[in-house]
Amino acid sequence: MTKFLWGFVLLITLSTVGEGNTSPNRACNPDDLKGLTSFKAGIHVDTSDRLATWVGSDCCAWDGITCDNRTGRVTEINLPGFMTKDDAPFDAWMEGSLSSKITLISFLEVLHLGGYSGLSGKIPKLIGFRLPKLRKLYLYKNSLTGPIPESIGRLSNLEELFLPGNKFSGSIPSSIGSLKNLSSLQLYSNRLSGCMPDSLASLTNLVHLDLNSNSLTGHIPQRIGQLQVLQDLDLSNNLLSGKLPPSMANLSAIQVIWLDTNFLEGPIPFPSSSAKMTSLRLLRLQNNRLIGKIPPNFGDLVSLEVAFLSNNKLEGEIPKSIGQLSHLAYFNIAHNMIQGSLPSEMSSLKNLNSLDLSFNRLRFSSVPRWFAELPVSRISLASCGIQGQIPELLRTIPTLIQELDLSANNLTGSIPTWIGDGKFAQALYSLNLSDNSLVSKIPDSIANLQRLILLDLHANKLVSNLPEALGNLSMLKTLELQQNRFSGKIPYGLLTLRELKTLNLSDNLLEGKIPEGKPLSDFPKSSYSGNNGLCGKPLAPCKA
Ligand SMILES: *[C@@H]1O[C@H](CO)[C@@H](O)[C@H](O)[C@H]1NC(C)=O
Ligand SMILES: *[C@@H]1O[C@H](CO)[C@@H](O)[C@H](O)[C@H]1NC(C)=O
Ligand SMILES: *[C@@H]1O[C@H](CO)[C@@H](O)[C@H](O)[C@H]1NC(C)=O
Ligand SMILES: *[C@@H]1O[C@H](CO)[C@@H](O)[C@H](O)[C@H]1NC(C)=O
Ligand SMILES: *[C@@H]1O[C@H](CO)[C@@H](O)[C@H](O)[C@H]1NC(C)=O
Ligand SMILES: *[C@@H]1O[C@H](CO)[C@@H](O)[C@H](O)[C@H]1NC(C)=O
Ligand SMILES: *[C@@H]1O[C@H](CO)[C@@H](O)[C@H](O)[C@H]1NC(C)=O
Repeated sequence: MTKFLWGFVLLITLSTVGEGNTSPNRACNPDDLKGLTSFKAGIHVDTSDRLATWVGSDCCAWDGITCDNRTGRVTEINLPGFMTKDDAPFDAWMEGSLSSKITLISFLEVLHLGGYSGLSGKIPKLIGFRLPKLRKLYLYKNSLTGPIPESIGRLSNLEELFLPGNKFSGSIPSSIGSLKNLSSLQLYSNRLSGCMPDSLASLTNLVHLDLNSNSLTGHIPQRIGQLQVLQDLDLSNNLLSGKLPPSMANLSAIQVIWLDTNFLEGPIPFPSSSAKMTSLRLLRLQNNRLIGKIPPNFGDLVSLEVAFLSNNKLEGEIPKSIGQLSHLAYFNIAHNMIQGSLPSEMSSLKNLNSLDLSFNRLRFSSVPRWFAELPVSRISLASCGIQGQIPELLRTIPTLIQELDLSANNLTGSIPTWIGDGKFAQALYSLNLSDNSLVSKIPDSIANLQRLILLDLHANKLVSNLPEALGNLSMLKTLELQQNRFSGKIPYGLLTLRELKTLNLSDNLLEGKIPEGKPLSDFPKSSYSGNNGLCGKPLAPCKA
């Protein structure tokens, strides 16, 4: 018994001495100590309990602090919000204001504070003069405000500037172009405005440039093509205008180009005949004002997996070279002015998963035979001029179809019973056949589409009673059947559709009492208007 107790006491003594590998009385540099205690004083909540270890004067032993073992100076502050605590992942909460006294820690190389929406304050104005050794500044997802100080351009050792998800405002200082060692500049999701400084094109070591979701205006710097090691370029969700700089074709290491949702104009200037951009995998240019053709040598982008070009003013035909894009999985050119027929070279897109050609000037009257060889699971061919019956070759596509949009075509005939086949029943979650000339009734086999979330059959010539089977589509959120010739009563089964958020049965020949209860009573009157004789909530009560 006594032996056991002594062993226990010894163990505790040893582990206390071992902690931090430093003697209890050692004091760290007074400036470092002052900088850190001022930082701590600015924080009034810290659920990570790391700051609770910040007592005494041996600051090198405190949680989250690293010192240089030769100079004894503090070199790193690592207090990310996402951490592990008791061996489990833990999201810490810190509340307070970032003290500007942090600049007293003049040997600091790494400052890492992220994930605290309760942390306010500014980047100290003189940071560039006071912390010349800084290599990594990570201050993401806090609530920091104010400008990115001009002095930042003096941090000549800075390699990573990672400030996304704050409320930084003002423009990006042009001094940033002096940071020759910068490899990562990530300022996305802030409130930055003004132009992108031309000096950004001087950051020749830049690998990641992400400025998305700000309010940047003006042009993309003309010389951006000088960034020879740039891999990711994300300028999406800004207010950028002007043409895409021709020098972009020289971005030889580029893998990701996201420029979507801006006001960019002019033609797509890449790939050029000399520079091939063979590493480009993801290209998002949608929601801009781009004109001209999809470049004839588009197929030189041999690594391309995703091409989103929708909502622009692109014209001309889909280039035959597209057949060379053997990795292409997502191709979306919806809402442009692309014309002509589909090049048969598209049949070699053996990895194509999602194809959206909707609302162009394509007129291919029937879906080409080779379509049946594409492994597409999401197909949008709205307003492509397709005539005749719903193409049976959809049954032979080698994958399960998840999304099918053939709306706004010239489809005739009935909705085939094979729509309830296994090929569709296991996967189909969105079916839009609206705005065609489909006739006859909805087949009962529709009840097999157990995954269906969206069913839009509006503006056709469908007739007869609505099938009770609609009540079996328990995941349905959107049901649009307006502008048809459905008759009879609304099936009681619809009362079981608990997920239903949008319903439109207007402009049909329906009659009788609307089945009483949720969700049917929650829809507006206009969901039911323009029928023969519907009554009951939300319409007027039925006459006895
Ligand atoms: C000092 O740090 C260096 C590198 O971090 C390490 O290799 C070395 O072993 C350390 N020296 C002592 C005495 O702890
Ligand atoms: C930049 O990085 C290089 C090597 O990575 C280093 O030698 C140099 O000191 C750093 N700082 C500046 C200002 O170039
Ligand atoms: C692309 O790079 C080449 C070689 O460095 C250069 O001659 C050409 O002018 C550059 N093109 C553009 C548009 O900047
Ligand atoms: C459907 O075809 C007719 C002629 O067959 C044509 O006039 C009409 O514009 C077509 N509608 C659509 C939406 O393509
Ligand atoms: C179905 O397609 C038409 C366009 O053809 C579109 O206007 C409608 O919003 C789509 N339906 C749904 C529910 O998204
Ligand atoms: C639809 O649901 C009803 C009632 O739950 C059930 O009897 C019927 O078999 C279902 N129909 C299909 C095709 O799943
Ligand atoms: C239903 O469709 C009609 C057109 O037939 C439209 O006027 C009405 O606003 C729509 N109501 C709802 C709730 O979508």
